[in-house]
Amino acid sequence: MNPKKCILVTGASGLVGRSLKNLLTAGGHEVRTLSRKNGDYLWDVNHGQMDADVLKGVDCVVHLAGETIAQRWTQASKKRILSSRVDSTRLLVEGILAADRPIDFICASGVNYYGHQCGDGQTEQSDAGVGFLAEVCQKWEAAHKPLADAGLRTVSLRIGVVLSPEGGAVKRLLPIFRAGLGGPAGPGSQLMSWISLPDLASIVRHLIVTPELKGPINAVSPHPVSNANFSRSFGRSLSRPAIFPIPGIMLRLLYGDMADETILSHIGAVPNVLQESGFVWQSPHIEDALSQSLQKK
Ligand SMILES: NC(=O)c1ccc[n+]([C@@H]2O[C@H](COP(=O)([O-])OP(=O)(O)OC[C@H]3O[C@@H](n4cnc5c(N)ncnc54)[C@H](OP(=O)(O)O)[C@@H]3O)[C@@H](O)[C@H]2O)c1
Repeated sequence: MNPKKCILVTGASGLVGRSLKNLLTAGGHEVRTLSRKNGDYLWDVNHGQMDADVLKGVDCVVHLAGETIAQRWTQASKKRILSSRVDSTRLLVEGILAADRPIDFICASGVNYYGHQCGDGQTEQSDAGVGFLAEVCQKWEAAHKPLADAGLRTVSLRIGVVLSPEGGAVKRLLPIFRAGLGGPAGPGSQLMSWISLPDLASIVRHLIVTPELKGPINAVSPHPVSNANFSRSFGRSLSRPAIFPIPGIMLRLLYGDMADETILSHIGAVPNVLQESGFVWQSPHIEDALSQSLQKK
């Protein structure tokens, strides 16, 4: 039986945060939320301000907040994407270092850390790659290094594409596939590292209660899939054809660099640390993950 903990979650109003909050609360943990609006506690990252006492009595911080990636990348939006993650992390680090007890820090990052064309077999020990999102992840992870340097437990959660009809890529693709107009994007051979939303919430819970786990952790299913395979499974889950390819050039015209670093990226991450720790995925295979997540829709 694990002891109940007090957990502060940032970005708790988002896709991952909502699911995590429900799971932790159901498990009897106390969950506090820190938000720009409508949280138990408030912060203003741009002005470096956070409610006093927000960290009082907290055992673990799970930091998920960050400006959405899914928007046209301009100089201004790229700045917001980076600073919302790095500046917020620095603010939390300052508070944790000043706290009167040790606080664990679990911080979101992405498999994008390895670069958008890194290919298969990326373990937690693999090198950092290049690209805008790779740079964001590297700076985000570096921002909480002072905690590890001070002997505190930190985790960098290198998350793959989160599958849920409630948000993210699946929600955006759902109307297209439902209309029978879905299909592979670009070459279709590019690898996608993914995780179902319930599995991701369980991974974070597993990390909260397993003090031996620290450092970078690939939060992905053990089975990355090609984009063509993902599209086929998506169509099958909805009993629709998925035969209309979307040319890469069209995606680049519509979304610019974001297309290259997201839907056209080729990232195969391996969850070595989670596997060695005995974590069990509920949905390790794409067919099951998609059909379970889409069956209620
Ligand atoms: N979803 C994925 O496929 C995926 C994949 C890899 C990595 N990740 C990372 O995992 C984290 C959680 O993902 P998610 O899908 O749950 O994200 P999400 O749904 O976009 O939610 C992120 C939350 O961050 C807060 N936020 C938004 N813009 C902000 C800003 N400019 N400054 C400060 N806070 C801001 C918001 O909370 P408040 O309104 O309450 O402040 C928002 O609910 C993100 O950092 C994301 O980059 C996600």
